[in-house]
Amino acid sequence: MSKDILNAKADFPLLKQTINDHPLVYLDNAATTQKPQVVIDALVDYYTHLNANIHRGNHSLAVQATEAYEGARRKVAGYINAEHNHEVIFTRGTTESVNLLAYTFGEKFVHSGDEVIVSQLEHHSNYVPWQQMCLRRGAAFRVLPFDENGELDLALFEHMLNEKTRLIAVNQVSNSLGTVNPVGEIIRLAHAHGIPVLVDAAQSVQHLPHDVQSLDADFYVFSGHKMYGPMGIGVFFGKEKWLEALPPFLSGGEMIDMVTPEKVTFNVLPFKFEAGTPNVAGAIGLGVAVDYLQQFDQHELQKYEEDLLGYGLSLLAEIPDLIIYGDPTHRSGILPFNVNGIQHYDMGVLLDTMGIAVRTGQHCTQPIMDALHISGTVRASLALYNDRADLEKLAYGVKRAIKILKR
Ligand code: ALA
Repeated sequence: MSKDILNAKADFPLLKQTINDHPLVYLDNAATTQKPQVVIDALVDYYTHLNANIHRGNHSLAVQATEAYEGARRKVAGYINAEHNHEVIFTRGTTESVNLLAYTFGEKFVHSGDEVIVSQLEHHSNYVPWQQMCLRRGAAFRVLPFDENGELDLALFEHMLNEKTRLIAVNQVSNSLGTVNPVGEIIRLAHAHGIPVLVDAAQSVQHLPHDVQSLDADFYVFSGHKMYGPMGIGVFFGKEKWLEALPPFLSGGEMIDMVTPEKVTFNVLPFKFEAGTPNVAGAIGLGVAVDYLQQFDQHELQKYEEDLLGYGLSLLAEIPDLIIYGDPTHRSGILPFNVNGIQHYDMGVLLDTMGIAVRTGQHCTQPIMDALHISGTVRASLALYNDRADLEKLAYGVKRAIKILKR
């Protein structure tokens, strides 16, 4: 029997705090989620009982730590339905995962005159690495714009594909607008031209279906800390055929097979891409976060979060002078807004005085803010432990802030 979502809040000790004398209402989950007690316990337990370097020692602790780390890889591979466990590479997070691909794919497969396409809805971390790689390789960096609803135009996308296109990089959910992008269709169109696709799943893997095989994603990247896991651990998934074809990213210990002054050969997957001592505790903590998430019925979880988002948007829409950005057919987890005549920063500071945590500013998406001709937004973002009361407090807090600021 699956776990009841309505009881989830009790699993997160940080949420029991008061901030500025008010019970915390945590609505900055797109920046980072809080951690359930089981994840915190796993980190303490690792350093209390298990800490040893992995894949290198044959003493008991080293063997147990290695098994726990590889167990975490199996859990993550199962969660995203990877065909092989060795298609899951542990990194520091989404940013490192995108850079891993930008450097290795760029070096091997992108040449002068080639093209790479990203969308205008990308976080800087799935934008700047491609822009920089294109500059290094003499390739064209092409940006698929979004429309007035905050959606990508598939007909335009198809039109941009040509024999020079080497790779598409797109997020599944925009961290600023919450648009759910049609990545399945994007992958289908790109594959019809033989072009691989990187899916940035940082804002989707914890909310939406997460099956890399049914999606047919060539590369799929995300961070542990946005899915109830620790900071400093993330995932780079690549199809085996691509991981075999790519050169290593970082070099050093663990990723080698034989080393002589003249020559080096590289280790098998996944170790070829995991140079140096990894974040063992982080990986184990992420494995526990995956276990935690999997206690919930995934369809129920998605439905619960969708209803919550709809409820929050409807409460905000009733507030005079409040603008909600984007109107995509399918939105996930994000409530982006401003109030006419009020700076997003001021709104954020006042909400904080009421114990309500939101993010304000550009959200690492300057191209989106430029397209909307604004300097930033207030962004509330949801996690599975949020409830209707949180959103009612947000709406009440926004109204109070308007009264104070427009006095
Ligand atoms: N990428 C994170 C956000 O959108 C930090 O807030």
